[in-house]
Amino acid sequence: MIIKPLSRQLKAMAETVVKAPSKMGMSPTVLLAPNNISSTSSRVNAKDIIGSIHEFVAQIPHAVKQRKDDDIEPGAFNDPVTKLFRKTTLSPHDWHRYAWFDESVPYTRNLIATDRKTYTLLLLCWNAGQESPIHDHPCDGCWLKVLQGDIREVRYDTQLNCVSDETFGEGALSYITDHDGYHKVGNPSNRPSVSLHLYAPPFQRCLSWRTQDKEQACVSECSNFSEYGFKVR
Ligand SMILES: [Fe+2]
Repeated sequence: MIIKPLSRQLKAMAETVVKAPSKMGMSPTVLLAPNNISSTSSRVNAKDIIGSIHEFVAQIPHAVKQRKDDDIEPGAFNDPVTKLFRKTTLSPHDWHRYAWFDESVPYTRNLIATDRKTYTLLLLCWNAGQESPIHDHPCDGCWLKVLQGDIREVRYDTQLNCVSDETFGEGALSYITDHDGYHKVGNPSNRPSVSLHLYAPPFQRCLSWRTQDKEQACVSECSNFSEYGFKVR
């Protein structure tokens, strides 16, 4: 199940791209002007909306534990983690300090928070027209929310047959587990995009494929470009 993204029309109204100063000579962080349009806020009581990344992070451990204790399928309507994502509306001012871009790689992985045993929260910054290889997720679940721009997700079954190809806009939420299959994620547009990824529990390496030949798997090490807002690579 995929929670539907904002309509194209609303997204176009919402997005205004501005550039912030460069960090340490790297490509500039790209910010969106704040807006009040979110696919999540319309389904949640205003008093329940989480509007800061600190509050969001603080609630992750409980949500992850509750989902596991109650054996709820990731992404199910009553999944506590999905609920947490659904009621969270983050301003670019909350996440821009983690948004490191590097034009020499397709995308960067930027660590926001982790307890090193039950979850890790990453901000992925995608250059225009770039994508990941097909990959698995050796964890209980991966949740993904689009924070800026467009994100394309191509899904495959466990035999690497393509089963869906969708492009999501800002506010869209998706999830995947190895039980569902594998995916590749990318930025199909001609401007940068940013997505928020939660993995529970964390993992250091995964399998990836450059083609749909399942026999040609590679082991990919998952390294961060920045951690807690500071470049580490
Ligand atoms: Fe993934």
